[in-house]
Amino acid sequence: MTTTAPPLPARTTVGIVGGGPAGLLLARLLHRAGIDCAVLEARDRAYVEQRQRAGILEQGTVDALRSSGAAERLDREGLVHDGIELRWDRRAHRIDFPSLTGGRRVWVYAQTEVVKDLVALQLRDGAPLLFDAPVSAVSGAGTDRPVVHYAHGGAEHTLACDYVVGCDGYHGVTRKAVPEGELRTFERVYPYSWFGILADVPPSSDELVYAHSPRGFALLSMRSPRVSRLYLQVPGGTDPADWSDERIWDELDARFAVDGDWRLARGPITQKSVLPMRSSVTEPMRWGRVLLAGDAAHIVPPTGAKGLNLAAGDAVVLARAFEELARTGSTAGLDAYSDTCLRRVWRAEHFSWFMTTTLHTAPDQSAFDTRLQFSQLDRIAASPHAAAELALNYAGLPVG
Ligand code: FAD
Ligand code: DHB
Repeated sequence: MTTTAPPLPARTTVGIVGGGPAGLLLARLLHRAGIDCAVLEARDRAYVEQRQRAGILEQGTVDALRSSGAAERLDREGLVHDGIELRWDRRAHRIDFPSLTGGRRVWVYAQTEVVKDLVALQLRDGAPLLFDAPVSAVSGAGTDRPVVHYAHGGAEHTLACDYVVGCDGYHGVTRKAVPEGELRTFERVYPYSWFGILADVPPSSDELVYAHSPRGFALLSMRSPRVSRLYLQVPGGTDPADWSDERIWDELDARFAVDGDWRLARGPITQKSVLPMRSSVTEPMRWGRVLLAGDAAHIVPPTGAKGLNLAAGDAVVLARAFEELARTGSTAGLDAYSDTCLRRVWRAEHFSWFMTTTLHTAPDQSAFDTRLQFSQLDRIAASPHAAAELALNYAGLPVG
């Protein structure tokens, strides 16, 4: 099938590749600021809205969603959390965010819901958002008029832009618009994965539980007062089909084991998936008129709940920079974009690495390594300073 009329105008100010959290929030913020933009998303709407991913929003992300008019349902349905629990060696310790951070807290509100809210707004009164529109390439990064090449409805199209923002995730194509050798990627791959499940059972704890165990890490999270989200550390290459529901619950039970009478409630498992763990940062996040945001520029292992929040932070910094350009003609914000974001990105990279390596058991882990982990966890339990450092990073350092 071929379309006769192009699905979008032939040019825009900001072309956004990818309709995940970074692209959708950026489009929303630009639209509110009166800046012309368009979003091209490779997948269909249902796929994007149902892709099960992150669940924790920092204060800064919530503030950005509120200021973009996308937080009405979040404010109604989001669960505000004032702390997390750490478990190790059959002991438990609660980290209280507000008292350790000067009042900061986090929200449990799934990425699927953030995306649904932003898509609904965008389609109702936003800039063009085109699904089923895979971008094959971005050309002219070093010119004043970069061009996005995309397919839609069986035909090839182009979108000429003043700037192109790659919000197209880790496997995106925008990064490839930058000439070889201009970008540098720093990377670490972890020797384990996460096995995530959704279960129709009320969460067994009011707050998230991060558990160190000699059998491997486990995390108890939630999607609502009736739906639990749980994760198990598993070897890379694990096939969810090899894990019966009973085996999953038994393993979770063993890993959350703690002195006292706490029990893990079981229920029907409705979804299973395995995700690899890596850290990656590409520098700089801008080259010429092409900018990278969110997972297109950086990946964190999920243990610190930072991926979605970093993506939102990039969108906020970038929207401010485009607003400054539109208002004053100054490119100072755009010129500083990469350095501004990378400071926060590297802090989150360190924190995510710290949480991951403190709580997981590596395949070649020695008894010495485990004693070091316990010492670190004991220190967090004993010292308000150590606990505050964790709380400040978890609840989110300020954007910008
Ligand atoms: P994405 O959400 O990846 O969005 C990129 C979008 O670009 C996608 O919609 C994609 O379809 C589109 N796209 C890609 N290529 C093209 C193209 N060529 N043309 C057009 N569109 C394109 N973080 C946590 O904090 N906790 C978690 O538990 C957690 N779990 C995760 C599980 C998985 C499987 C993954 C992949 C990530 C997880 N993350 C988690 C990380 C978090 O979800 C991401 O950091 C977040 O989605 C980043 O948003 P983004 O918009 O930058 O990228
Ligand atoms: C969730 C995911 C995380 O990576 C995390 O650290 C906390 C919660 C979640 O999916 O709910």
